[in-house]
Amino acid sequence: MGLISPQILTLETNVTTPSEKPLMDQKLETLGQMRQQSQQGGGAARIQQQRLRGKLTARERLARLMDPGSFQELDAFVTHRTSDFGLAGRKFLGDAVVTGWGRVDGRQVFAYSQDFTVLGGSLSEVVGQKICKVMDLAGKTGCPLVGINDSGGARIQEGALSLAAYGDIFLRNTLYSGVVPQISVILGPSAGGAVYSPAITDFIFMAQGTGQMYITGPDVVKAVTGAEVSHEDLGGAAAHATRSGVAHFVYASEDDCLAGVRHMLGFLPANNLEDPPLAPASDPDSRADPELRHIVPHAPNRPYDMRHIIRRIVDGGEFLEVHQSFAPNVVVGLARLAGRPVGLVGNQPDHLAGVLDIDASVKAARFVRFCDCFNIPLVTLVDVPGFMPGVDQEYGGIIRHGAKLIYAYAEATVPKVAVITRKAYGGAYIVMSSKHLRADINLAWPSAEIAVMGPEGAVNIIYREEISKAGADADAVRRRLIQEYQEKFTSPYIAASRGFLDDVIDPAETRPRLIQALAMLQDKRDSLPAKKHGNIPL
Ligand code: HXC
Repeated sequence: MGLISPQILTLETNVTTPSEKPLMDQKLETLGQMRQQSQQGGGAARIQQQRLRGKLTARERLARLMDPGSFQELDAFVTHRTSDFGLAGRKFLGDAVVTGWGRVDGRQVFAYSQDFTVLGGSLSEVVGQKICKVMDLAGKTGCPLVGINDSGGARIQEGALSLAAYGDIFLRNTLYSGVVPQISVILGPSAGGAVYSPAITDFIFMAQGTGQMYITGPDVVKAVTGAEVSHEDLGGAAAHATRSGVAHFVYASEDDCLAGVRHMLGFLPANNLEDPPLAPASDPDSRADPELRHIVPHAPNRPYDMRHIIRRIVDGGEFLEVHQSFAPNVVVGLARLAGRPVGLVGNQPDHLAGVLDIDASVKAARFVRFCDCFNIPLVTLVDVPGFMPGVDQEYGGIIRHGAKLIYAYAEATVPKVAVITRKAYGGAYIVMSSKHLRADINLAWPSAEIAVMGPEGAVNIIYREEISKAGADADAVRRRLIQEYQEKFTSPYIAASRGFLDDVIDPAETRPRLIQALAMLQDKRDSLPAKKHGNIPL
């Protein structure tokens, strides 16, 4: 493998131009040559290697992300300043990242795209400065930032300078968190501490087969722990979408991944001071759906798919599910009601009965906080048997992780509307956008059951003595007591009689009722007590 000769045009005098041309023409010719050289990145051979790895180039990715012809590049002539370790003769115009701004569906977006063809996309001091420049512009102009990652991490030859550059990026990721939406796209390696920039951003999109994220690669894992694992198994898209929860979206190709980012941006406001974008109404506001009356099974333990309810309620049945493969016992995602984006959170009876465990609590809490940052109203669909019991859950910290979800809902000031479709038991009833956590409108279907716990558990505790005294009749006595308990608690009317529910509705009317509630809440203003910031149980 031969190294690319850099052939950098650092001085205009390097460029031969016919002397008879007017001066400006000569200068423009030089500019054109330099720009062309900059666009070559690491050169033709490196671009070929990039293709053999199944990857697009940094510029091709930006072209797919942005509206055609809208990308405006910045800092195309920046070069690194290092001469150590043989880098003096290896300068590339633009260094290892392409930065700038463009439009997505006509709306301004800033982006950077790491260029693996230049020194493995490694982050030098100047690469960090280029990225920070677009981050600052995104923050000052109030526009989303998309970071496309394909990099070997800190440029080893630059030592502390490249580490400092990462620090500068992390700082901005944090300062602009909740100010402008930040999206990370992982289309190559993202190794070492470099993973923490994407981790601070709002959403991580990964391409299968090429996107990989890990703190240490397989070699270090083997040296430290003895475990042998492939790059893909350790940090590939599947691992992060299903096991770690680091990735929110996974796509089979880079094209699909970048199209997914465009789709997601269509739901988001440009910044925290704007409302999310209104789409033309595609579905009548008053559309009732009698099928909804038959989705919840009569038997309380029979599963059903909460996503069927979501799709029947939202505009055009279009639901962008976030974190689809992680903690599937809770469903979160974006959709529209009467053209306005909403964040949906629903327990999923189809998986682990919709119980709230550690992963589900963290997944839902982060989504609720995202929606609250960006003025996206929350619609919560409740069918939850409680928090997950178990030694693993307790040792894993279900107490502090479950608390995150309470905290997130309690703190959120966006319009909050909830519908209980079936079970709302115990602490999980309170957590799931209850009136007690200042939800605005709480509705229930007639099938709702609000209780401290399910009938079997409750009867076994409060009638323990009576059941044990029944001897041979214990089962019959238990059944009778369960029935009595069910008749008393398995309805929404005790909660409705206290005003904890604002209304009990015909399931068929769910869509129009939600739209009416959200229209009423459109100008809602709420606040938190003055403080520096709260102390969410992390
Ligand atoms: C300088 C780098 C580099 C780096 C890759 N290259 N990573 N140069 N600094 N960090 C160069 C390679 O030397 C090579 O150049 C070219 O990029 C392509 O790399 P290859 O190894 O040929 O590619 P591939 O086989 O696809 O492997 C990709 C890789 C591997 C898995 C990313 O390059 C790798 O392991 N790199 C080091 C990863 C790493 O440990 N980074 C530091 C992480 S710590 P030539 O010209 O020789 O072909 C970190 C700290 C951040 O980032 C701290 C933040 C707080």
